[in-house]
Formats: sequence, structure tokens, C-alpha cells
Amino acid sequence: MLILGIESSCDETAAAVVSDKKEILSNVIYSQIVEHKSFGGVVPEIAARAHLEKIDVVVRKALSDANVGLSDLEAIAGTCGPGLIGGVIVGATFAKALAMSSGLPFIAVNHIEAHALCARLTNDMAFPYLLMLASGGHCQLCIVRGVDDFEVLGTTIDDSVGEAFDKVAKLLELGYPGGPIIEKTAQLGDASKFVLPHPMCVKNTMDFSFSGLKTAVKVAAEKCETERDKIDLCACFQKTVIEVLRYKITQAIKHCLKEKIKISCVVMSGGVAANQAICKSLESLCAEFYLPFIAPPIRLCTDNGAMIAWLGVEKCLSQKFDELNFAPRPRWPLN
Ligand code: KG4
Ligand code: ZN
Repeated sequence: MLILGIESSCDETAAAVVSDKKEILSNVIYSQIVEHKSFGGVVPEIAARAHLEKIDVVVRKALSDANVGLSDLEAIAGTCGPGLIGGVIVGATFAKALAMSSGLPFIAVNHIEAHALCARLTNDMAFPYLLMLASGGHCQLCIVRGVDDFEVLGTTIDDSVGEAFDKVAKLLELGYPGGPIIEKTAQLGDASKFVLPHPMCVKNTMDFSFSGLKTAVKVAAEKCETERDKIDLCACFQKTVIEVLRYKITQAIKHCLKEKIKISCVVMSGGVAANQAICKSLESLCAEFYLPFIAPPIRLCTDNGAMIAWLGVEKCLSQKFDELNFAPRPRWPLN
């Protein structure tokens, strides 16, 4: 079974062909970083126009790289939300039009769910598992029980983790996107130089808050006198994010133990899962609880078409198809 997946919810135009045997036959990603760089963040209208310009080239390449035609496919899956609505409309409409013209079933994919199930494409793992989803647009701690079956334990009340990385990088004038630059800079810094707050790590809640941390970095940055101070601040910020994630994930694991929910592993996905310092620390935390820690390979952590196609495979296997009038959704919570 082969599924074409199309993604356009943020600043990557992407398409991929994936099989039910977990083979990624193609995975084409056009990143719009160049278009948005000078603005220091994603500009929705520019993103929508860039998706429109590139979508046919990207989809065509995904099919030709996989060496398949539309008639070889079982269904077409397209991100229908959540995300920047202009971009979502471009990808969803393209996917629907292709499905209609080729007579194939259409699958409306929730972008967050695609991140959540993506680890199953590269790893054999059973439901239920604990998921820490940390991307630019989303921050969710949940139990994944199956396709379309989630229990959300915590979410952010303000910024997402990736957003915090991007905003901190912007205020330290390091460039965009912030995550990879901060990770690289943090390696050179002294992570004990500044003491930063750990928002919402005292209360018995699995929700997150990162906007106070960002403000604390801003206040500290104003006192930085040298480049060295800025580098150290980066290291302190990343260390604090790691400590917050460890605190929340520990709470979630303890919740599962208390409620006798037998999770098979802890998964980290979304763009922030590309951060090796975070993954290394979480891996050792999970080991303390005798739980495997799994993060998809970096190219599947950030937005891509393969995760959309894979959720298409999972849904196709359970015959979950959607109507062509499925409306694109700027917001689409997991539960
Ligand atoms: O999943 P993704 O590609 O897009 C969304 O669905 O939002 O995630 C992008 C986010 C950005 O905020 C980016 O700064 C962050 O992931 N990111 C990282 C790293 N690589 C990407 N954050 C921390 N460390 C990284 N190495
Ligand atoms: Zn994403």
C-alpha cells in the first residue's frame, strides 16, 4: 500500500510517498527559510504564496523520486490543520483536487497527530506511549492510545517550546530559525552563569508556560556586556528548558504509574526533538524509569511529508477516509 502525503501548514512545502511496510520511497521538502529570514519569523501571507508557487513541483518530485504514478497509490493524505490557514488551504485543496481527479480516497490529516505517530514509522512500538510533542506551533504532553485516540495531560498556556527558542534567538540577534542556532551556541557556553526561572514547575500541573522564561532571558540579555555573556545566556536558557521538560515528563510518568497506564516508551517529536542536548537528557531520565526513549530521526522531527503520508497509512489501514468537503482548520486540538 502506497500513500502520498502533502504538508503545507507552516513554512515547509513537503510531499512524500510512504508504504505500509514503513518504506519512505520519497520525502521532498522545500523550506521557506530564505523567504522569511529577513523578517525574523514566518510571515503567513508570504508562506501561503510560497506554498502555492512550489506545491506542484514538490508533489511531482515526490512521485518521480518514488518512481510511482497516481495509479500506484491507495490514497492521498493532506494536512488540513492546525496551522497558518493560507498555507493549509493550499496543501489541502491540492491534495483534494488530486484525489478527486484520480478517483482516490482523501485523508484529512491533523498535523499534530502526524508528529505524534511519526515515531511508529521508524520504530516498532506499541500503544499506549507517552508523547512529548514540542514544535514551533505546538507543545503537548499526552498519552497516545491509538490512531485518533489521545489523552492530553498538559499543554502550553502561552508559547510553545520551539517558539521560545525562536524568540530567544531573535532577542539575542542570533538569527532564524532559533532552535538549531541556540543548540549550537549553547555548546560553547557556561550553563551555570545565569539563574533563570522554571515556570509552572512548582504546581502539580502538567501544563507548560514559556513566556516568563523568555522575558527573564530578555531582562538578562539587557545586562549582557560581552559576546561571551550572550553565549552563556544561550546555554542557561537551553539548560532551563531541559530542566522544565524533565520535570513535566517525570510528572507524566508518575501519573502513568499511579493510574496503572502501561506505557511502552516515551516519545519526543516535533522540531525541538532535533535538539540532541534535550534528547540526551530525556533519554537518561527515562532510563531511570526503565522506559525506552524514542525520537524520530531529525529529518522526520521537523515538518515533512513522510509523517503525513505515514498517518495516511495508519488511517487507511483502519479505513478512515474523509469527504472532499472537509474544511481546513486553523485550530484543531488533538482531543
Ligand atoms: O515541527 P516543526 O518543524 O514545525 C512546527 O510544526 O512548528 O518545528 C519547528 C520548531 C522551530 O521553533 C525551531 O526553532 C525548532 O522547531 N527547532 C529546534 C531545533 N531544530 C528545530 N529547537 C531546538 N533545537 C533544535 N535543534
Ligand atoms: Zn510541525
